[in-house]
Amino acid sequence: MHRVTVSFYAAAFFILISGVWWGPSALSAKERTGSSGIPPEKAAAYIYDVIKADRTLYTTEIVNRLQAKNIISASEHWEQENTLMLPAQFLQHSGKLAAENGSEIRYRLIGLWPIYRRNAPVSDLERNALESLRKNPSVPVTGIVTSGRKQYFQAIYPDLAASQVCIDCHNGHLLSPKRDFKLNDVMGGIAITIPLE
Ligand code: HEC
Repeated sequence: MHRVTVSFYAAAFFILISGVWWGPSALSAKERTGSSGIPPEKAAAYIYDVIKADRTLYTTEIVNRLQAKNIISASEHWEQENTLMLPAQFLQHSGKLAAENGSEIRYRLIGLWPIYRRNAPVSDLERNALESLRKNPSVPVTGIVTSGRKQYFQAIYPDLAASQVCIDCHNGHLLSPKRDFKLNDVMGGIAITIPLE
């Protein structure tokens, strides 16, 4: 009987000290995932780096390389023509897939002179960002957007006419409202939106 009492107290003591021991580390784990975690600017910048790397790889190693070897080309109506999708379409489709997985991350290509209206800016933040990126493409434009009761952080990075093919295709596209894009012009932006909770 005495033994049982002793081990009861020993167990209680152990639980007590382990509670004290785990207390602070549980708290810091909570802090790490809470609002004091990665700042949204940084999180958006990380996502941007991944999107940019994937787009570059798709453009250079898949589209350009296979096109140069006359194996397959890329075209807008890739599904009907059995070609590769355009890099812009690759980004839009990937953004759609990411949105469908429930993570609430959104990213898409937008422009002030979009070939399709669906790629036009949808808020003042997006519109102003594209205007200010045209003047100063070196810094992304960021802001907070509200949707329902939720807040989101949005960062808009410039999308530059890095090669002649960009301007040739856009300037010559039947539906393009702008036909005088020049090399290195800011053609639009990559808008990344992440939830702030
Ligand atoms: C062969 C044609 C073609 C080429 C080359 C091309 N684009 Fe596009 N681009 C498109 C089409 C088509 C869309 C619309 C895609 C969609 O939403 O379905 C688009 C969309 C965009 C958008 C979103 C706004 C809009 O106009 O709809 C931007 C910004 C953009 N492209 C920039 C570029 C840049 C920068 C390059 C070169 C690195 C480039 N494009 C090369 C055809 C092209």
